[in-house]
Amino acid sequence: MRIAIVGTGYVGLVSGVCMSDFGHDVVCVDSDAAKIDRLRAGQVSIYEPGLDDVVARNVRAGRLSFTTDLAEATEDAQAVFIAVGTPTRRGDGHADLSYVDAAAKAIAKTITSYTVVVTKSTVPVGTNRRLREIIATENPEADFDVASNPEFLREGAAIEDFMKPDRVVIGVESERAAEIMSEVYRPLYLRDFPIVITDIESAEMIKYAANAFLATKITFINEVAALCERVGADVKEVAKGIGLDGRIGNKFLHAGPGYGGSCFPKDTKALARIGQEHASPMQIVETVMKVNDEVKRRMVEKLRDLCDDSFRGKTVTVLGVTFKPNTDDMRDAPSLTIVPTMIGGGAQVRVVDPQGRREGEALLPGVTWHDDPYEAAEGADLIVLLTEWNEFRALDLPRIAASMAKPRIADLRNVYHRQALWDAGFTNCAFNGR
Ligand code: UDX
Repeated sequence: MRIAIVGTGYVGLVSGVCMSDFGHDVVCVDSDAAKIDRLRAGQVSIYEPGLDDVVARNVRAGRLSFTTDLAEATEDAQAVFIAVGTPTRRGDGHADLSYVDAAAKAIAKTITSYTVVVTKSTVPVGTNRRLREIIATENPEADFDVASNPEFLREGAAIEDFMKPDRVVIGVESERAAEIMSEVYRPLYLRDFPIVITDIESAEMIKYAANAFLATKITFINEVAALCERVGADVKEVAKGIGLDGRIGNKFLHAGPGYGGSCFPKDTKALARIGQEHASPMQIVETVMKVNDEVKRRMVEKLRDLCDDSFRGKTVTVLGVTFKPNTDDMRDAPSLTIVPTMIGGGAQVRVVDPQGRREGEALLPGVTWHDDPYEAAEGADLIVLLTEWNEFRALDLPRIAASMAKPRIADLRNVYHRQALWDAGFTNCAFNGR
């Protein structure tokens, strides 16, 4: 089967590459010529474990190619995926659909035989119907259907999530489109992964509801963590105790410095907007967004407490600034709130992050970047474990404590045992919710 993917950002690239690994002929299109040149040379511009190997394997097998020419890509393609960005529009919190609309218009002009135009980008409910109008207006002759096929890929585990999904969601409005979409995902059917085929609006809604629910779950435990600190409970124990209830589940119950990344902040905002527009306010989601901002502020207060109530003149070593481990993504990372507040308060901040520097240099002005946590800790007044990269999970704690001006640590991801920190010499330590 021949498939075209429009947009070689995170979602488009992972989806296209994995579909070629299913055995389909996939052409990935992007208007950014430099990006396409790099991909042709085998250079994957995002950090995603395992992706470059899958790219190389499928390019070698002749199933995967890259182009800037949309018409060349969509020629004979039975399914054309739109996977361009939908950033939050400045000012009003709406998803910016200009890239999606432009892609639909461009695709419309190239349709010569029956094609399913599939939206992978996360778009507000109703967008796929609107895209159908756009395509029909642009090319009245076009024989096509639209379909919604939201992605549920976690950065850092995207290949695994694509190849072994919890479910695939497909929204269609014709049998013909359902057949083509089933063919795209046939390798998954054969291995019994659940495929939910539904109407278009439900598929669009599933994506927002899933992300909003997960953001709610994280925010719930983050708020419980704050209360745990007050009453002398341990949020790790509480999460374990509630997570064993099958109805609750133990995932996404790790207290942290607030959720970030490319999806949760943007999608919660968009869902709240959709609710307002339809006079059906999403009050829980609105509160979740507010509480998530408070969580970040609470982290700053915790750090300030540890610094004897003032950041002025303190040297703080921050371990991990990406929004989560195994990614170089800094979008809406809690570090972008926490680090500048410390600098504003007069701290000198040193940062160690295995992948964050490339993006982070522009976003975190005024910090100094270090490769080695031990070197970065020398003479510091406080260590903050902000993102739980594996590199930071088994540090030689006594060595670090001994090299600091004042051995103080804030373990905002609850990686370490209190006793281990004490034994190492961190008499002054703070956790998150314990
Ligand atoms: C998410 C969804 O998981 C994915 O299905 C969707 O398609 C895109 O958004 P991603 O943004 O890559 O994926 O990250 P995820 O692993 O879900 O983590 C999101 C944020 O929540 C991170 O900032 C992470 O640190 C935080 N988090 C997650 C917690 O603070 N505690 C948890 O228990 C889980």
